[in-house]
Amino acid sequence: MWALFSLLLLVWTRAALAAVDFTASGYASLTHYDLPLDYVASCGCVGRSTFYPTAALNRYAYGSNTSFGPACGTCFEVRLVSTPLAAPPPPPDSNGPYGDGIYFNASQVSSGSTPSLVVKVIDLCPGAGGPWCNSTRLDNGTVAGNRLGFDVHFDLAWPSKGISKNFFPGDHDYGVWNVSYAAVSCQKWAGWNDRAALGSDWAQESSACCPNNPPPSGADASCPAYYDTLGANGAVPPNTSNVLSKGLRSSNAAAATLSLRRDAAADIAVLLLSVLITVIALSLATGPLLS
Ligand SMILES: *[C@@H]1O[C@H](CO)[C@@H](O)[C@H](O)[C@H]1NC(C)=O
Ligand SMILES: *[C@@H]1O[C@H](CO)[C@@H](O)[C@H](O)[C@H]1NC(C)=O
Ligand SMILES: *[C@@H]1O[C@H](CO)[C@@H](O)[C@H](O)[C@H]1NC(C)=O
Ligand SMILES: *[C@@H]1O[C@H](CO)[C@@H](O)[C@H](O)[C@H]1NC(C)=O
Ligand SMILES: *[C@@H]1O[C@H](CO)[C@@H](O)[C@H](O)[C@H]1NC(C)=O
Ligand SMILES: *[C@@H]1O[C@H](CO)[C@@H](O)[C@H](O)[C@H]1NC(C)=O
Repeated sequence: MWALFSLLLLVWTRAALAAVDFTASGYASLTHYDLPLDYVASCGCVGRSTFYPTAALNRYAYGSNTSFGPACGTCFEVRLVSTPLAAPPPPPDSNGPYGDGIYFNASQVSSGSTPSLVVKVIDLCPGAGGPWCNSTRLDNGTVAGNRLGFDVHFDLAWPSKGISKNFFPGDHDYGVWNVSYAAVSCQKWAGWNDRAALGSDWAQESSACCPNNPPPSGADASCPAYYDTLGANGAVPPNTSNVLSKGLRSSNAAAATLSLRRDAAADIAVLLLSVLITVIALSLATGPLLS
């Protein structure tokens, strides 16, 4: 009985450890950063994931201060709302202060016509320092937000192979956007149908946790915080290794090998075809001589 109780408590504690500590939808700030193509970032997701839209999440929302955390692998739809550091132009016929910022009103945002993306979280926006990735839970339990008061911050890997270079509207880089976000199934992520872009890099072993499609809710997550896996009774992260990246630095190398194999097969087919043609040609040429 006690054993069962402790087991249940253990399971419950583990589940509680693996909770995402922020709402599944709301507003957040978004900046962008350079992530090299094929890079295996903090979560340990395969390098090939960087061929599609990915983002880093601030430490608080990510749920870990190093390596992987509860938010790893989750997918979010993010939708541009406004440029909070640049005021929008004043409405016509008003003498409001001039601004060159962009603001999509509520009906534009809800119409779904404003720029949006589904990103997979593969990286940690590190540091407790400001101004964007520093939101934190204080000792008294309240969450202190970043420079704009947001608990959640996305750092979008952009420019990126998987995102249009014209994704951000406007004639210059505003740097920071106010976005609306919502957790979604990773089946909506552009990389979903590319098996080599899912899971974690084989070589990362126990320092990776990148589920293909973690539950798209704020309540539960598949990965514990890396720190909680250390020590004798550490939480056990799920095995998310992608076999396509086995023995290679990254899954992109795996994909390259797969296409090489495809090329080799094509080469063999071409070779066989030319041998066949030569044989037919020879037999046509030599046929009359033989008869
Ligand atoms: C990360 O978090 C763990 C557990 O909360 C803590 O012991 C460790 O000192 C932290 N590391 C850094 C670099 O903040
Ligand atoms: C972000 O946009 C929403 C919707 O327009 C707005 O309610 C919120 O105040 C904005 N936050 C900031 C910091 O700009
Ligand atoms: C939102 O913006 C659009 C496009 O500028 C405009 O046509 C519409 O009237 C605005 N709606 C509201 C509620 O302000
Ligand atoms: C994060 O940094 C910004 C700007 O440096 C500051 O306004 C904000 O209060 C900081 N937040 C926390 C929780 O330290
Ligand atoms: C928690 O602490 C912060 C900073 O000391 C304070 O601003 C805030 O009001 C406190 N919240 C509660 C609920 O005590
Ligand atoms: C993870 O799963 C793969 C099969 O997908 C298996 O070959 C590998 O040994 C597992 N790794 C660990 C550490 O259990």
